[in-house]
Amino acid sequence: MKYCLTIKTSSGSYKYNPTPHDPLDVTYSSAFFLFSIFNALIANEGNNTDASSSSFLSVIQASELLTGTVAMAIPKSAVTTTPSFLSRRPPPLIVSSVRIEEKTRNSNTRPTTSGTSRPASSTTALPPATKSSTTRKSPANDRRVAEPNQPSMMFNVLEDVINNFIDPPLRPSVDPRYVLSDNFAPVDELPPTECEVIQGSLPSCLDGAYIRNGPNPQYLPRGPHHLFDGDGMLHSIRISQGKATLCSRYVKTYKYTLERDAGAPLLPNVFSGFNGLAASAARGALSAVRILAGHFNPANGIGLANTSLAYFGNRLYALGESDLPYAVRLTSNGDIETLGRHDFDGKLLMSMTAHPKIDLETGEAFAFRYGPVPPFLTYFHFDGNGNKQPDVPIFSMTRPSFLHDFGISSKYAIFADIQIGMNPMEMIFGGGSPVGSDPAKVPRLGIIPRYAKDESGMKWFDVPGFNLIHAINAWDEEDAIVMLAPNILSVEHTLERMDLIHALVEKVRIDLKTGIVTRNPVSARNLDFGVINPAYLGKKNRFVYAAIGDPMPKISGVVKLDVSKGERQECTVASRIYGPRCYGGEPFFVAREPENPEAEEDDGYVVSYVHDEMAGESKFLVMDARSPDLDIVAAVKLPRRVPYGFHGLFVKESDLKNL
Ligand SMILES: [Fe+2]
Repeated sequence: MKYCLTIKTSSGSYKYNPTPHDPLDVTYSSAFFLFSIFNALIANEGNNTDASSSSFLSVIQASELLTGTVAMAIPKSAVTTTPSFLSRRPPPLIVSSVRIEEKTRNSNTRPTTSGTSRPASSTTALPPATKSSTTRKSPANDRRVAEPNQPSMMFNVLEDVINNFIDPPLRPSVDPRYVLSDNFAPVDELPPTECEVIQGSLPSCLDGAYIRNGPNPQYLPRGPHHLFDGDGMLHSIRISQGKATLCSRYVKTYKYTLERDAGAPLLPNVFSGFNGLAASAARGALSAVRILAGHFNPANGIGLANTSLAYFGNRLYALGESDLPYAVRLTSNGDIETLGRHDFDGKLLMSMTAHPKIDLETGEAFAFRYGPVPPFLTYFHFDGNGNKQPDVPIFSMTRPSFLHDFGISSKYAIFADIQIGMNPMEMIFGGGSPVGSDPAKVPRLGIIPRYAKDESGMKWFDVPGFNLIHAINAWDEEDAIVMLAPNILSVEHTLERMDLIHALVEKVRIDLKTGIVTRNPVSARNLDFGVINPAYLGKKNRFVYAAIGDPMPKISGVVKLDVSKGERQECTVASRIYGPRCYGGEPFFVAREPENPEAEEDDGYVVSYVHDEMAGESKFLVMDARSPDLDIVAAVKLPRRVPYGFHGLFVKESDLKNL
C-alpha cells in the first residue's frame, strides 16, 4: 500500500506524492548505543571531523516534523528543492497538520523487495576494473521500494517513541534544523550533465576530473542528526578539452544500499544518537534486536564513505575513517560508479584513515587506523602497486585518541595524540558527544620510521597546546622534522561549536637529537583544509593553499601562504574572498605541468566549488595560483547546486583511464 502526504503549514499546503524513486514508507529506524559499542569493538570505529557547526540557521521547523504522530521516512527530495533553504533567515515554517492518504500504486513501481536481510560479504570482492566505455545503469536509478511489514512498523513506533519522548532536547550540533540548513541541505543524485563555462577557459592540465566528497543524507532525519552522519556523495566535474560535465552520485555503501532497498533508514547514526543514558540504551536495545532479526549486519561495515578520496595502486577510493575504502570509478561520460568495499585481499581490517598520504614518486600510500580498544593506533602502508603491507600496532599510544590525520616525511611518519578522545561519561550522564576533550592531557607528537616493521623506533614528544586534526605536510631537516598543520584552538568545541574554533597554521620543528620542539605560527587567520602541490608530499615545500573559516565550517575564501618566510611573519602572499554570502570548500592545487621536474612549485591552479547562497547557484572556480589575487582563469556554472562538503581530489585523465 502506498500513500501520499499532505502537510499544512503557515505558508501553504504541500502535497507529496511518493514515486518509485522517492518512497514514502511508513518505516523508519535508528538504533544506537549497543551498535556504537559494537562498532567500536568490531569495526574499530573512528570519527570524522571535517566540518561541523551549530551556527546553521534553520528554515524548516523540523521539530514539527520530528514530533509528528505518524512514523514516516521523508525523502529529502520532497523538501530540499525549496528555495527557502537558500535564505539565511527566512520566516519559520510551522507545520500545522500532517495527513497521510492511501494512494493507488503507481504501475511503474518496481516489485517490492525486503532488502534488509541480505548482508553482503564482509570482504566484498571487487570486480575486475574495466575500461569499458559503456555506462552501466546506476544502482541509484534502480531504487526498489519495500513494503513495511509488521515488525518494521513496530520498530518504527519504538524509534519514534525514543525520538519524541526519551531523547533530551536536541543540541544545535545534532538538530537537523541547523545542521541541514542553507547549502548543507542534501541534494538528489545528478546524472552527467553538461556545464557552461561562463568565464575564461579551462586549462588543458585540468583534463580529468575534480571530485569532492561530502555528507548528503539519503533520508531527511526525523531525529537527531550530526553533519558527519550524512551518506557520502561524490560531486565530480569531468573536464575534457575545455568542456565540463557535472555528476553527483552517492557512494553505494552497504548502509546506503541496504537503506535504499528498504526505503527507509535502518542503521543508527553514529554521531547523533548519543543523547544521554536512557535514549542511548533504548536505541542500543532496538539496534541489537534489529541485528538479531537480520535487518542489518554490522560486520559488513557501517561506514558512510563521506570524507575524502584517494588514488593509489590504479584504484580510486571514497573514504571514511570508520570503514574500509570503497572503490569507485568514472565512466567515459562522466558518471560515477561504486565498485565495492575493498579489503585489499583480506589484509585491511576494519577501517582506514580518510587521509592516507600518497607519494607520487614511488606510488606508495601510507595510512593508519585507530579505535577505542588496544592497539589504539595501527600504522601501515601500501607498496607502489597498492598491495597492503603488514600492520604495525602502536601500543605506546596508551589511550584512545581522536586521530583524523597524520604527516609523512621521507624518513618518518608523524602522529598526533591530541586532547580529544573518547568521552563515555559525558555521553551517558551529560547527554553530550561520545567524543570529548580532556584539558588535562598534554598533546604529543609521535615519530616512527616510515618503513617501520614494529614500533621499537617510535619516539614521543610533548607539544603542549598543539591539537592537530588536519596535517598539511612534513619534511626532514638534518636531525629534525618539520610539520605544517593547523592547530585547533578551543579544541573542546570541535564537534559541538565549530564556529567558535580558530585554527592557527603552525610550523612545528622537532629536533630528534635534543627533543626540543619549536613552534611558529605562519598566519594569524582562521585557516584549515590546507593543501600543497601534491608532488611535494613529504618534501620541503614553500606554498600552502588554505581555506578561510568565516566561521568554520563555512569557507569565505582561500589564501596562499609562503611558509619560507622568516619566523613570526604573516606568510599570506595571495588571497581571494569569494564575495558576500559566497562560500567555497577545501581548495585543491593542480600543477600546470605535473610531469615537468623543473616546474615551479606554484605553477598551477587552485580549484574549488563555490556556492552563492543569495543566488542559489554553484560554480566551479579555477584560480591562477601564481597571481597575487588568485585570479579566476575559468568559472563553470554548475547545473545544480553542490552542497558544502569535505575533501576533494583531482584525478588526471590518464589515471581515470586506468580505473
Ligand atoms: Fe579531514
